[in-house]
Amino acid sequence: MLSISPLTQHIGAEIKGINLAGDTSDDAIAKVNATLAERGVVTIRDQHLTIEQFMAFSRRMGPLAIHSLNQFSKPGMPELMVNSNIIENGKPIGLADAGRDWHTDSAYTERPYRTTILYSVEIPVRDGVALGDTIFASTSAAYASLDDTLKQRLAGLHAVHAHGVAREKRGGGLALEEKQHREIHKGVEHPVVRTHPATGSKCLYVDEGTTARIVGMEAAASEALVKQLLEHVLQPQYLYRHNWRVGDILMWDNCSTLHCALGDYLPTERRLIYRTLIQGTVPI
Ligand code: SIN
Repeated sequence: MLSISPLTQHIGAEIKGINLAGDTSDDAIAKVNATLAERGVVTIRDQHLTIEQFMAFSRRMGPLAIHSLNQFSKPGMPELMVNSNIIENGKPIGLADAGRDWHTDSAYTERPYRTTILYSVEIPVRDGVALGDTIFASTSAAYASLDDTLKQRLAGLHAVHAHGVAREKRGGGLALEEKQHREIHKGVEHPVVRTHPATGSKCLYVDEGTTARIVGMEAAASEALVKQLLEHVLQPQYLYRHNWRVGDILMWDNCSTLHCALGDYLPTERRLIYRTLIQGTVPI
């Protein structure tokens, strides 16, 4: 029997009573997608999936996208990305530092991904505590609590998003592949407040990772406004922190949430997570 429980007041839900390795009904998949749209983040724990079963589940959630930074796709499976710090035969098998800044996936593209789906295969554990948590913030709950004056000020504003903005601001250089990726994704405009395609709720759509500036504002004023909005979104009441276990499915909605992955483990503490992406729509 499928059950759905909220993880915090504003964000996240855990779904139990569903075995993704078995026959999952269309009705169950529809409930997962509806919960994701309503709660922003969904986890389904204790799954035992082959890569093929993970891919089959992902495909049923929606049409899969292929990430343009694809050197860490699984060979022969362009839609399956690998987040990992594991080195095999002297070569990294995955992207070791995916998502260390607060961001929403592929905001630097015309049609950012609707959903990201992860499946954990190896999680670093030290002294009995799992490391490398992924933290989420609800941009819909945060928007809803803004005062009307600020909502009016934001209406109609657009921001420019580019790949690697946070890394550049910190002074960290971009790796060669990332520089090439940046050349392709050097600036796309999206509304600062976007409307969720399924629920119609309004969501703040600025982040640390990709938001370069707000169109039509001086640099200092633009930075101050983005900082103010991020400080608002990242208040504890809008957050959910996922402490990983092996066998977790964790998925999120890239319109109504921001996320960041903690890098609090050593290169020798193995982490292996598979990732798929569902195609999205142009933000409006
Ligand atoms: C990401 O995909 O942005 C990183 C998520 C994670 O590895 O925890």
